[in-house]
Amino acid sequence: MNNNNRIGVDDDDDDDSETASSNATESETLCECLKRRKVMWIIFTIIVLAIIITIPIAIIKTKKTNNENTSTAEETTTEIIVITKTESTKTSTRTSTKSTTSTSTTAPMATSLTTKTTFTTTATSSSEFGSHIGARHESNPNRFGFFTGFTARWNSNGATVAGNAGGTEGEGANQFKEPYVLIFDSSNALYISDLGNHRIQKWIIGSSVGVTVAGQADGTSGPSSTTLNQPIGLAIDSSNNMYIVDKANHRVMYWENGASSGSMIAGTGFSGSTNYQFDNPNIIQRDSSSGTLYISDVENHRIMQYLNGSSSGTVVAGGNSYGTGSTQLWKPYGFTLDSSTNSLIIANGAAHTIVRWVIDDTSWTLLAGSSGVSGSSPTLLNGPVGVAVDRYGNIYVADTGNHRIQFFLAGQSSATTIAGITGSSGTSATQLNRPYGVTLDSQFNLYVADSSNHRVQRFLHY
Ligand SMILES: *[C@@H]1O[C@H](CO)[C@@H](O)[C@H](O)[C@H]1NC(C)=O
Ligand SMILES: *[C@@H]1O[C@H](CO)[C@@H](O)[C@H](O)[C@H]1NC(C)=O
Repeated sequence: MNNNNRIGVDDDDDDDSETASSNATESETLCECLKRRKVMWIIFTIIVLAIIITIPIAIIKTKKTNNENTSTAEETTTEIIVITKTESTKTSTRTSTKSTTSTSTTAPMATSLTTKTTFTTTATSSSEFGSHIGARHESNPNRFGFFTGFTARWNSNGATVAGNAGGTEGEGANQFKEPYVLIFDSSNALYISDLGNHRIQKWIIGSSVGVTVAGQADGTSGPSSTTLNQPIGLAIDSSNNMYIVDKANHRVMYWENGASSGSMIAGTGFSGSTNYQFDNPNIIQRDSSSGTLYISDVENHRIMQYLNGSSSGTVVAGGNSYGTGSTQLWKPYGFTLDSSTNSLIIANGAAHTIVRWVIDDTSWTLLAGSSGVSGSSPTLLNGPVGVAVDRYGNIYVADTGNHRIQFFLAGQSSATTIAGITGSSGTSATQLNRPYGVTLDSQFNLYVADSSNHRVQRFLHY
């Protein structure tokens, strides 16, 4: 009873030495013997337990080290669910319930052909859907992190969230004339450059009207500090101060939140090709950590970098005349700053490509399209303008000349059409007419500046 709960080895040893010196009877000796055995058993059990515990830990640790790289690749395997708009008649399972009046020679979207596929390999091709969907970001596998289960699926029926659903243009607070760039502020209000009305509109989602936050509400254009002339590119900081590319004035304006005028921070008001001038600048992106501005200078076929506070820029992409070579750009209408890869993803409009230009590199790498070749297949583009990248590295392209939005899964060069009908412009819910800006909200809902329809369409992600 005394030692039942005691497993201390020292105590037992003390007992042993005591018993050795004592004059024990036979039964006492037997008892001591059993005690010794008990101690031996306890020690043995401890050793066995220690072995049982340490060996599996060691094995797991070794495996982990060996598989560090391959397990990262496994984690990036993604489940993709795609609703693909079938543009040929042969695979249509049911006809569209909407009366789409399409001018296209091929049948309009057959719609709602749904497939759920788990991709474990890259570039699975499916002729039925006419697209390749893979799931791995080849150049940067770590980008996905622990990303799993993203579904690349949007409703193909767009809802008008700003402007006139019927496609009517105008200067009213509920109207647009060629909306171009869309940006969400931190409160999820949309900032929209209203190119043809020479103003920037702020539009709270759900509202039926917008509020003019830069330029003149009545659509007056001009070169003064209170007027704009074809404002197009737009960036906002965390306080909703605006950086506006004032295209036809060949300048960039800084317009404080709430101000009635702006100040010129880049350009001269006249076109030119020096490092402090622009010729039809288009899109602006701002690196919020450094305050550096990037501006696409379309007719100079280059993208300029302006350090915070500088009135002169440096060429970071293109600038080698126009052309299809890898050191050249050709009307880079749109681009997005991809901070995670320190690169610009450029809609190289007249070359019909999307290219990646790493900042400080001297040439681009092709991401999508074929340099100098326009087309409407899943691998070709026709005058792309808007481009957006999500946090997984997937790329969204406003394929303007094809009236569609193309989705390129990270690392893939073949796209799925997720909004619009290829080659068919119109004002129905499934159609677009020369889409320009494209952006996503935090739920991956897709917003498109449907420019020639003078409206902003939302395609719900689900
Ligand atoms: C994992 O990748 C790193 C860097 O790419 C490399 O140095 C390392 O040897 C790789 N480890 C294994 C186990 O393949
Ligand atoms: C840019 O420069 C201004 C003026 O010097 C400074 O106040 C601001 O903090 C800078 N912005 C960033 C993001 O560094």
